[in-house]
Amino acid sequence: MFSILKRASLAMLSLMTALLLALSLPVHAEQNESQVAQREMTQLAGADFWRQVRQGEEGYTTSQSAEHGVLISTPGQTWYILKEKWMSPAGAVAIFGSIALVTLMYVAIGPLMLSAPRTGKKIKRWSRLDRALHWSMAFTFLTLAFSGLMLVYGKHFLKPYIPSELWGFIVMLAKQYHNYIGPIFYALLLCVLIKWWRKSIFKKVDFDWFIKLGGMVGKHKGTHPSAEFSNAGEKALFWMLIIVGSVVALSGLILDFPIFGQTRRDMEMSNLVHMIAALILICGFIFHIYIGLFGMEGALEGMVTGEVDETWAKEHHDLWYQQVAEKEQTFTESSEISQQRKGAQTNEQTS
Ligand code: HEM
Repeated sequence: MFSILKRASLAMLSLMTALLLALSLPVHAEQNESQVAQREMTQLAGADFWRQVRQGEEGYTTSQSAEHGVLISTPGQTWYILKEKWMSPAGAVAIFGSIALVTLMYVAIGPLMLSAPRTGKKIKRWSRLDRALHWSMAFTFLTLAFSGLMLVYGKHFLKPYIPSELWGFIVMLAKQYHNYIGPIFYALLLCVLIKWWRKSIFKKVDFDWFIKLGGMVGKHKGTHPSAEFSNAGEKALFWMLIIVGSVVALSGLILDFPIFGQTRRDMEMSNLVHMIAALILICGFIFHIYIGLFGMEGALEGMVTGEVDETWAKEHHDLWYQQVAEKEQTFTESSEISQQRKGAQTNEQTS
C-alpha cells in the first residue's frame, strides 16, 4: 500500500517536473501569429479604424454588458504581460526550486529515522473520517494542480508537438475538470477546517519547536522538540492551507461564475490572485508530500492505517503521547476498580 502510494506520488512529481521543463521553449511562434493578425486587421479595417479599436475606444459592439462599448480592452494587455511574461516563468522557477530543495534535503539531511526500535504497540491517530478527508483533499488538490499547470504551461511543452485536435481536446478536458472539481476542493477545505482547527491552535510549546527548527537541521538536529498532536510545522501548514486555500477558492469562484456583473478587470485580477495563491500552495505541499512520503519514517502509515507505532508517537508528538498514555491508565484503573466491585458484589451474594 505504502509503495503504491509512494510510486503514485513519485509519478505525480515527475509529471509535474516534465510538465514544467518545457517552459524554457520559445514563445516566438505565438508572437509571430499575433503580428500577422495585426497586419491583416490593419489591411482589412484600415489603419485609423484599427488604431481606434486597439486603443479601446467605445462604440464597436452592440453588447450591453459592462464595458460593452470596448472591443479591445487595453489594460488587458497589462494582465496578459503580467501573466505570461512574469507569473508563468516565476511560477515555474518556484516549483522547480521547491522540488530541487526537497531533493537537496533528501541527499544532504536524509530521512528522519526513529532513534529507538519500534515497540510494536499501535496507537490510534487518525479516524476513518480523517483519512477519507485527507486523501480526498490530496487527490482533488493534486489533480487540480495538474490540470491548472496544463492550462498555464501546456501551450509551451505540449501544443507544439501534438496534432491541434488532440491539444484542443486535452486543454478542454483540463479546463472542464478544473472548473467542476474546484468547488469540490473548496467544500473539502471547509470540512477540514471544521474537523481539525482545534488541534491546530498555536501554543507556547510551538515557538520552541520553531526555534529548534523541529530538530531537523542546525545545532538541534536529531533532537525531538516537544509537540502536541500536531507539531508547529503541521499547524503552520494547516493555517497556510486554510488561508491561502480560501484565497484560491474565492478567486476561483469569481472566475467560475462570471454572472455577477464582474468586469474584465475583476476577472483579470482574480486570475492573477488565483495563480499566485495556487503556486504558493503547490510549493508548500511539495514539502509536505516529501515529509509524508520520504522525509519521516513512520508518518505515512498513520495516514494510511490510522495507527502509529508507540515509539513514533513518543519521539515526534511526546505531549500527545503522554495524554494518550494517561487516558489509557485512567481507563485501565477504572475498569480494574469496577471489576473488583463486581467481584465483591458476587462474593456478598454468594455468602
Ligand atoms: C501524496 C500526497 C500526500 C501525502 C503522502 C501526505 C501525507 C500526510 C501524512 C503522513 C500526514 C500525517 C502527519 C501526522 O500524522 O502527523 C498528513 C497530514 C496532513 N495532510 Fe497530507 N499528504 C499528502 C497530500 C496532501 C495534500 C495535497 C494536502 C492539502 C491540500 C494535505 C494536507 C494535510 C493536512 C492539512 C494534514 C494534517 C496536518 C496536521 O494538522 O496535523 N496533504 N499528510
